[in-house]
Formats: sequence, C-alpha cells, structure tokens
Amino acid sequence: MSNSSAPRTLPIARRALVAAAATSFAGAARAATPDPAIVNLPDWSQSLGDGVQAHPYGVPSPFEKNVVRRDVEWLTAGQQSSVNFTPLHALDGTITPNGLCFERHHGGVAAVDPDRHRLMIHGMVAKPVVLTMQDLKRLPRINRIYFLECAANSGMEWRGAQLNGVQFTHGMIHNVQYTGVSLRTVLEAIGIDPRAKWVMAEGADAAGLNRSIPLAKMMDDCMLAFAMNGEALRPEQGYPLRLVVPGWQGNMWVKWLRRLKIGDAPWETREETSKYTDLMPDGRARRSTFVMDAKSVITSPSPQTETAPKGRMVISGIAWSGRGAVSRVDVSLDGGRNWQAARLDGTADPLSLTRFYADIDWNGQELLLQSRAQDSSGYVQPSKADLRKIRGVNSIYHNNGIQTWLLRADGQCENVEVS
Ligand code: MTE
Repeated sequence: MSNSSAPRTLPIARRALVAAAATSFAGAARAATPDPAIVNLPDWSQSLGDGVQAHPYGVPSPFEKNVVRRDVEWLTAGQQSSVNFTPLHALDGTITPNGLCFERHHGGVAAVDPDRHRLMIHGMVAKPVVLTMQDLKRLPRINRIYFLECAANSGMEWRGAQLNGVQFTHGMIHNVQYTGVSLRTVLEAIGIDPRAKWVMAEGADAAGLNRSIPLAKMMDDCMLAFAMNGEALRPEQGYPLRLVVPGWQGNMWVKWLRRLKIGDAPWETREETSKYTDLMPDGRARRSTFVMDAKSVITSPSPQTETAPKGRMVISGIAWSGRGAVSRVDVSLDGGRNWQAARLDGTADPLSLTRFYADIDWNGQELLLQSRAQDSSGYVQPSKADLRKIRGVNSIYHNNGIQTWLLRADGQCENVEVS
C-alpha cells in the first residue's frame, strides 16, 4: 500500500481562507525561457510507433502502470476469500473501466465455460426451467448504469481513520453499464405462485454464495446481466452471468449465477445472518439493511494523489445513493464548519455514481476537506460522529459517514477525523 503515513485525529482547523477561482490560466503560466519540451523533438516524434496489432486487446499507457486494483495484505488470510480495491483517486467521470472494478470473492474467481453454464429457476413457479446462455440472449435486452457498493466499504474506518487512501477507504465500489434481461420479463414468462415473496439467488463458484432477495425487488428493477461496459462480463465480475440488484448491497449481486429458487420466506443463509448484518452497540444484530444509503467522497485531492500545487485546484469526487438520485453535494474546506454547494456534473442518474466538482484557488493554508451528499428522498449523509451515536463502533457494514482529508501545507493529503 502506498503512502502509509499514520492518519491522525485533529481539532477543527481555523477557517480556511479560500476564494472561489475565476476562470484564467494564471496558475499555469510558464517561464519565458525556451521550454525543452517544445524545442527538443521527443523520441516518439522521430520514429514510427507500434503497428495496429501490437495490442489486439488494448492496454493503458505504460505511464499509467500504477493505476491498478490493490489489496491490503493484512486484511484477509488468503487471496481467494479476499478483496481488492478500485483506484478511485486516479479515475474521473463516472464509469469504472472493466479492468479496474474492485473484486470481492468468497471462494476465488470461478472459471466458467458459458456453453456448460445453466440457470435453473424453480420453487414456487408454474413450471421449473433451466436456461442456457443462448436462451437468455434471445430475450428482449436492456442497458442500465448502476453502482455496486460492498456493504463493507469503509468498514475499517468505524473506530477511527485507518487506511491512508481513498482507494482503500472507499474503493469497494464500481459503476458500470450492464447489458442483460430484466428479471421481471423472465419471471412473468415462467409464472410465479401468487403466494411467493422471496427468491434465493445462488452462484456457481466454490463458495456457492447465496442470498434471499424479496420478490418485489426482483420484479422491480433487477437484471440478469451478461455484459458490462459493452463487452462480456469479466470473470472477476461473474462471467458469464450476474444478478444486478440496483442500489442494494453488493453481496446480493450474485456472480456466476446458476440458480433462482422462488419461495415464501427468506432462507436465513450465512450471508444474511452471521454476515452482512449490523452489530449494534447493545450487541444485537440489525438485519435486512439491504439499501446503500447516500454517501460521497472527495477522490482528488486525496492521500494517493500527486502533491497539490498552490493556486487553481479542481476538487473532484463521487456521490451515490441506493434510494434514488443524488440531488446535491456540499463541500467543506474547514472540517464541516462551513459548506458550499459543489457542481454536479452530468445528469445525476438514480442508483448510479454522480461526479461532483468544486473549483477553488488554494493559498497553501491547511484545509480539512469534506463532502456531504443529499439524495432525492431528502436524506443527508451523516457525520461519522452522528453515525456512531446510533450505530456505535461494533459494525463492519454500512459506514456512510463523512470522510475528512487533511490537505497539508506541503500539498499532501492525510486521512484524519475531526472531533
Ligand atoms: N457472488 C458469488 N457467487 N460469490 C462471491 O464471492 N461476492 C459478493 C458479490 N457476489 C460474491 C458474489 C460480494 S460480497 C460483493 S461485494 C460483490 O459480489 C462484489 O462484486 P465485484 O467482485 O464485481 O466487485
């Protein structure tokens, strides 16, 4: 893990004196002396480059070789039941490139042959069916962009600032365009018993991960997806078939989907009892917290980004909500004392990442950077202190508290908490 200086807890700093930036290129002015980057012809202009088939499947520039998924070695005992993290600090816009989507597996990546893969739908149905991938690809198709956030995202931060990088504190999220079939289309065609209320989804990996999901949600907006961002699902993301459960915790998005069982009650599987429940301060576990509440984070500047120079600065971040669309994001430069509205870029689609920006002039003074999202239901992202008043610190899951980065005078950021 890069940039591992210890995070610290700080009192709220003095009010930062930062003026909104006027549009100019003043900060980018170069010295009048001849710039070698212009007067010397670079290597790449003096000889022919690679031919068209040098990379039949394109790869990023070697100068971007550090933009990769990373894990935190001490977090899990091995690599198969583990997690790596999306490099949020190095991404912009809203779509996560396929090769950078974080991975979370309980039994490693299943290497599934699509010709031998089957989806069985049975239980309280008029007639059980077994579908091939070909069968699914003959059904009417839709494309939808959704975020997937693991319920354990930011889970290491319950007891204080711990991991020094947005990749590690918030990187269990990706935002992808899925192609597939609406589950409603399939279930209506099969015929569901009117007394049915729940569906158990199960994966074909060694973990056989399974979850109970309310039938109403399945009929509302769930998808059987076979493609992401225009190409077949990646093996890590469930090739050849994944369940998409928009706005709900990532654990329910079963990968390598092989079975849907229709029933009238939840199955109380491991993943919805001993795991993915919220341990409250009184020792009781809160269940069925499926929806991911509104959350946001500043991705740049943040601890893994390059040293920030004084002057013009683009503060950039992402916001999302499992209850609808992001309606507003505010940014604070002084640890939450004062807030200013950030600019939401694009259409702020429901259940999808929204990119926000705040353009400032930075005078080199220490800043305590925070962002706070609000969604179309009126819900406002809480401070970590307010969240802990209700949830205590026993939890792993569903930490959507406001993140603070200390931007130091030397232009580097640190993961801190304000008290
Ligand atoms: N599905 C199966 N079959 N096996 C798994 O281990 N992990 C779940 C879910 N679906 C898992 C699974 C968890 S805990 C999460 S957070 C998401 O997949 C992660 O999705 P990703 O690997 O595409 O990021």
